[in-house]
Amino acid sequence: MLAYLDHHATTPCATAVVEAMAPWWSERFANPSSRLHRPGLEASAAVERARGQVGRALGMAEETVVFTSGATEANNLALRGVVEAAREDGQRRRGLVTLATEHRAVLDPLAALARQGAPLTVLPVRSDGLVELELLAEALTPDTLLLSVMAANNEIGVLQPLEAIAALCRRQGVLLHCDAAQAVGHIPLSMAALGVDLLTLSAHKFHGPKGVGALLLRPGVRVAPQQLGGGQERGLRAGTLPVPLIIGLAAALELALADREERARRLGALRDQLWRRLEGLGGVERNGSASHCLPHNLNVTLTGVEGHRLHQLLRRRLAVSSGSACAAGSPSHVLAALGRDRREAAATIRFGLGRDTGPEEVDAAVAAVAEALSTLRRPV
Ligand SMILES: Cc1ncc(COP(=O)(O)O)c(C=O)c1O
Repeated sequence: MLAYLDHHATTPCATAVVEAMAPWWSERFANPSSRLHRPGLEASAAVERARGQVGRALGMAEETVVFTSGATEANNLALRGVVEAAREDGQRRRGLVTLATEHRAVLDPLAALARQGAPLTVLPVRSDGLVELELLAEALTPDTLLLSVMAANNEIGVLQPLEAIAALCRRQGVLLHCDAAQAVGHIPLSMAALGVDLLTLSAHKFHGPKGVGALLLRPGVRVAPQQLGGGQERGLRAGTLPVPLIIGLAAALELALADREERARRLGALRDQLWRRLEGLGGVERNGSASHCLPHNLNVTLTGVEGHRLHQLLRRRLAVSSGSACAAGSPSHVLAALGRDRREAAATIRFGLGRDTGPEEVDAAVAAVAEALSTLRRPV
């Protein structure tokens, strides 16, 4: 049996979520933009109910939610949208700031905006993955338009101090975008309480369907649409709404919030157990802050082993990854930002625990790593 411990890449869609979506694929198939007949109005009402649920779950009103195809699209809409809107409004501020450990779905759109002339600052992080607040404070100037900082890192699980970051942004009048794809449904998060201006989420990271996410906008924050057409989503994201996926997103979020605390406690204990047992094998080093970390994440580097061989051995028994699933092949820029070299980054394992993870998976992981280590470290 293969133990699946790659829940940062994606999670299985919960059975209750599949059931909630079921009628909306077939018998309730109407287009929510068809306002002249009852099936269309019913689909529209269901989408608006889902919108309300998602908004409330993040402490916001429903009109702040723009449904997208996932976190990648939400990040693109946020970053490109803010820059374009500011340009249209004749704003003087143009500077963009982010961290070196952000997901490619933030770094790449920002790099594209920089090529078009926006001044971009990519800040380093400390060796534990946390932002240096003093450095950040210096980087935010009266010319800065937007700061993008993720809530939880997809490789090392590190949780950035969003409250302090939001306070710095408020002081300087800088918009704060937060890619919360790995955090929503896993840690307590209120966009309103934190003072985040734009927030990204993705359903498949919390046992919802793939292909749907959302960008939440604080009222008054303007983004220029990146996809034009039928004017759906108040003109911010054209395209026929994927009703079943939206229903699934809201259902998955409700489920995730209902068992969040219990799940975090249980998975945190399993993760700690996994770490203690791996540490006991010797030559296993943890990456990222252990105190500011998602409860279901563990990222370790095995010293003195060849990464390719390690993962070849592990793959027979474990589904894990060495870095982000979205950047397969290239060495992890996150581990590089922590000071790991290519060889160390390759010999790294990211464990992501999920709702269905139990002690059996932890046993399987420890046994697989122990066996791989004894093979790789055997004197020749
Ligand atoms: C932090 C973060 N942002 C963005 C994404 C991209 O999400 P999606 O697959 O919904 O486009 C991911 C997925 O790996 C992620 O972890």
